[in-house]
Amino acid sequence: MGAPRGPNGDTFLFNPELLKNLDWNSVRSSLNPPISNEEPGEPWLLVRPLSIMDYSKGYVQILSQLTTVGNISKADFERQFWRMQNAGGYYVTVIEDTRSNKIIGAASLITEFKIIHSCGLRARLEDVVVNNTYRGKQLGKLIVLTVSLLSKKLGCYKMSLDCKDSLIPFYKSIGYKLEPGNANSMVVRYEETTKPQDPS
Ligand SMILES: CC(C)(COP(=O)(O)OP(=O)(O)OC[C@H]1O[C@@H](n2cnc3c(N)ncnc32)[C@H](O)[C@@H]1OP(=O)(O)O)[C@@H](O)C(=O)NCCC(=O)NCCS
Repeated sequence: MGAPRGPNGDTFLFNPELLKNLDWNSVRSSLNPPISNEEPGEPWLLVRPLSIMDYSKGYVQILSQLTTVGNISKADFERQFWRMQNAGGYYVTVIEDTRSNKIIGAASLITEFKIIHSCGLRARLEDVVVNNTYRGKQLGKLIVLTVSLLSKKLGCYKMSLDCKDSLIPFYKSIGYKLEPGNANSMVVRYEETTKPQDPS
C-alpha cells in the first residue's frame, strides 16, 4: 500500500481519515470550551498526521523545545519518516497554524503488537510539545487527547506515558492515572551509541 496523500501532493505518515469521528464525547469534561481535532476552535488551526513536508514547516525546531534534537538535515528527516512509514504503528500527529504554515504542536502515538492480552495492541505517548507562544490555550490537551482517542479507535487496550513530576496534573486533567503500585518509570541511558540499524 502506498503512502497516504493529501490534496496538495502531501505525503502523510498515516491515513488522515483515521482522525475523523474520534469519540470526543467521552472526554468532553476535560475541555472548556469544548474543542476537538475536527473543530479546534479557530479556522487556522489544523490537526493532521505528520507530513514529509513538515521539515520545512518547523517540526524539528518545535521538538527542540522538548529535548535535544541534534543537527538534522532534510534528508535525515525524510529517511526517518520513510522508516516510520514502512515500520507501521507510528501515528505522529501535528497542529499546524495555517496562517504561517508552521507546526505549533505535536504528539506521537506509537502502537505495539503484543502476544499478551489476547494478542492485543498497546499504545505509548511520546514527544508531546506545544510551541511556547501558543501555550495555555488547551492545545496541549487537544493534541494529547487526539492521539489518545485515536489509540482507542485503533483498538489499543491501554496507553501510557513518561513525564516530569510537574506535568502529572496536566496529564491527570485529561484522564491519565498513576496506578497504585505500578507508577514507576525506570531508565538506563547509553552514553556512546552506534548508528541505529534498520531491522531485517
Ligand atoms: C506540556 C505542554 C505540551 C502543555 O501545552 P499547553 O498547550 O500549554 O497545555 P494546555 O493549554 O492544554 O494546558 C493544560 C493544563 O496543563 C497545565 N500545564 C501546562 N503546561 C504545564 C507545565 N509545564 N507544568 C505544569 N502544568 C502545566 C496548564 O496550566 C493547564 O492547566 P489548567 O487546565 O488547569 O488551566 C507544553 O507546556 C509544552 O510543550 N512543554 C514543553 C515540552 C514538554 O514538557 N512536553 C511534555 C513531555 S511529557
